Amino acid sequence: MEKLGRNDKCWCGSGKKYKSCHMMMEEKIHNYELQGHIVPRRDMIKTPEQIEGIRESSKINIAVLDEIDKMIGPGVTTEEIDKLVYDLTIKMGGIPATLNYDGYPKSVCTSINDVVCHGIPSPDVVLKEGDIVNVDASTIYNGYFSDSSRMYCIGKVDEEKEKLVRVTKECVELGLEQVKPWNFLGDMAQVINDHAKANGYSVVVEIGGHGIGLEFHEEPFVSYVTRKGTEMLMVPGMVFTIEPMVNAGTADIYIDDEDGWTVYTQDGKPSAQWEVTVLVTEDGYEILTY
Ligand code: MF3
Ligand code: CO
Repeated sequence: MEKLGRNDKCWCGSGKKYKSCHMMMEEKIHNYELQGHIVPRRDMIKTPEQIEGIRESSKINIAVLDEIDKMIGPGVTTEEIDKLVYDLTIKMGGIPATLNYDGYPKSVCTSINDVVCHGIPSPDVVLKEGDIVNVDASTIYNGYFSDSSRMYCIGKVDEEKEKLVRVTKECVELGLEQVKPWNFLGDMAQVINDHAKANGYSVVVEIGGHGIGLEFHEEPFVSYVTRKGTEMLMVPGMVFTIEPMVNAGTADIYIDDEDGWTVYTQDGKPSAQWEVTVLVTEDGYEILTY
C-alpha cells in the first residue's frame, strides 16, 4: 500500500487531502488489524467514481430482472429467459457477465427446485406450475459489474416451497440490517444462518457471495455460515453481494458432472436464493441491485 502524507491528495480521486478524506478511516482499519481482525485492503474500497460506475451497471441489471418479472410463468422455457436477458442487456449497452465466464455458455443462470445455483438455460426446460426458480443475472457496463437474482414461484406452488422462498428473502433482509461500517461479515452471516436454521433449513457452505465491481468475483469471499465478530471488517466503500443459498433439507450439494455447472441439493429437496449487490456507506448500506 502506498504510504501517503497527511497533505497528499487522497488515493480515491476525490481531490481532497488525504487527512480530510480517507486517512482517519484507514487508521481505524489499521487498529482493527492490530487487534487481529481481517480487514479490507485499500483496493477493496471503491472510489466515488467506481461506485458511480457500479450504480449505472446495477440499473441495467435491475431493469433486466424487472422484464423477467413480466414474462416468466408456466410454459416459458429457460432459453426464452436467457434470450431476453441477452437481448435486453445488449440493447442497454451492457454485456451479460456470465456469458463465456470460465466457459459458462449462457447469459443468465436459471435454477429450478432442487437446483441450488448455476442452472443452464435450455430450450428443453419448460417452467411448469408449482416450480420455484431462481433467475440470476449479472451485468458488465462500461467495465463495471453488478449481480442480482430473484426467486419466482410459477403459478401455484405448495406451501413448503412458498415458505422456503419467503424465508430466504427474509434472510437477505436480516443480513442487510447488519451491513454498516465496523461490523463484520460474520455478523451478517450469523443472522442469515440463524434465521434459516430457526425455520428448519440449512445454508450452503461451499458457495457464497463475493466482492464485486471492477471484476465479477472479487475478494472477499462472503460466507453465510460464519459467526458474529469474525470474517472481514466492513468499511465504507466496500461493495459485495448477499446471496445465501438456503436448502429445505441438508446443506449438502453436488455438481452435475455432465455439464460441470449445475449444482443440486444432495437430498433432492428444494433450494432458494435471493441476491443483492450492496455498498457499505458511511452509516449503513445502499442496495445497488435487488
Ligand atoms: N451470478 C452468479 C454469482 O452470483 C454467477 C456465477 S458464475 C456462472 O456469482 F458462470 F455460473 F454464472
Ligand atoms: Co453473485
